[in-house]
Amino acid sequence: MDLFRTKNIEQICSSTTSSGMTKNLNAIDLVFLGIGGILGTGIFVLTGIAAARYAGPAITISFIISGLICSFVGLAYAEFASLLPASGSAYAYAYSSMGEFIGFFTGWNLILAYTVTASAVAVGWSGYITGLFKAGGLELPLFLTATPTEGGFINLPAIGIVFLLAVLLVRGTKESVRLNFILVFIKLITVGIFIVLAAPNVNIENWQPFSPFGNAGIISGAAIVFFAFMGFDAIATSAEECKNPIHDLPIGIIASLSICTILYILIAALLTGIVPYNLLDNAEPVAYGLRFIGYNTGSAIVAVGALAGITTVLLVYLYGQSRVFFAMSRDGLFPASICKIHTRYHTPHRVTVLGSLCVALISGFVPLSYIVELANTGTLAVFFVTLIGVMVLRHTQPDLPRKFRCPWLAFIGPLGIFSCGYLMYSLSDITHFRFICWEIIGCVIYFSYSYRHSLLQSDQNPVRSR
Ligand code: ALA
Repeated sequence: MDLFRTKNIEQICSSTTSSGMTKNLNAIDLVFLGIGGILGTGIFVLTGIAAARYAGPAITISFIISGLICSFVGLAYAEFASLLPASGSAYAYAYSSMGEFIGFFTGWNLILAYTVTASAVAVGWSGYITGLFKAGGLELPLFLTATPTEGGFINLPAIGIVFLLAVLLVRGTKESVRLNFILVFIKLITVGIFIVLAAPNVNIENWQPFSPFGNAGIISGAAIVFFAFMGFDAIATSAEECKNPIHDLPIGIIASLSICTILYILIAALLTGIVPYNLLDNAEPVAYGLRFIGYNTGSAIVAVGALAGITTVLLVYLYGQSRVFFAMSRDGLFPASICKIHTRYHTPHRVTVLGSLCVALISGFVPLSYIVELANTGTLAVFFVTLIGVMVLRHTQPDLPRKFRCPWLAFIGPLGIFSCGYLMYSLSDITHFRFICWEIIGCVIYFSYSYRHSLLQSDQNPVRSR
């Protein structure tokens, strides 16, 4: 068995130019796609929980730490994206730099990360819409809005929004990007409203004590708010639908990550400045913060904006998930029939429907607490491998034409690898156990199906390099 058989980069690039997908995304679309995937549940919900339970006002520092780690990974992604503009992002990067076995598991973990994160986000969406209905005087029945373990039967709003967005994604990337554009615009205005209303009302006494739970609390806070930065990687999955991926992907990744990091630090500082941190442990801390200082209308607007924000995250994650599936099945690691492109819409409709079905089932029947940490660990595993991959490729193929080079890689690479590994380690034992189960299932699929059906197995394959 050759577990490290690999494909060469030039050939992957030439095989992706004829994927059949329409190339209509530009740099601005990519920045909006990035903000669409990043800014959502993490800032609108988790900031309050992380401040109240773990870090206090020092949650701002937690955001800086997580933002720094993600910026290391973002730079590594940008280097890969400028070199290898192919659907599947980290999966394709790992495949080309470290061989099929590691590539398969990177793709497998990306699927875990996207599926589970999308499910968590759909549950968050359901919580917000239920809350808005309630505020409008219409209480939705518990058996239709909660999972069996939470005293209900099915989380119907979560399933509904997943199917709605899946239909949109099947109909076309341009349509989805247009909706994403509008919703991202709404969420940025919402964030702007929050900043303008909150800034004059900061009471610096709320920042005392600044770090009530010490350094350990700041690190735990960073592990939680890491969720808020996830999503920039989904931009790289759109490579085959970009007009000029080598130039635009690094811009999309770095610009969206930078914009979100600045906004997060501002929001975290202002939120803990207007409300004592111990009052922030609720489902809608940003809206609550405005109510706390007397802006009821502003609070309602922010709640609606948050709903728009969470919708775009879901859209981007469903999109990314289908593109990873697509890339893996095109390489023969999953049955080829599922990556068929729709003749009219030019989208991989079968994988989109299949992936959305998985997300709908999880979000409809599994409680949020079971899935959030698993989302973080899947993403961290992918980031960990990507950072190793970029270092390996610099060593094995130093002369490849890199349009973008990750600066200070000798420093950033090991630090990022250590940080991702440490954050993974700091998650709970049950999460480690679930993650190992996922890897074992991956092993069974790889050795029973993928290895034998991989295109690299066939001598006819044009992209086989050895
Ligand atoms: N970063 C995404 C969010 O916060 C996952 O919703």
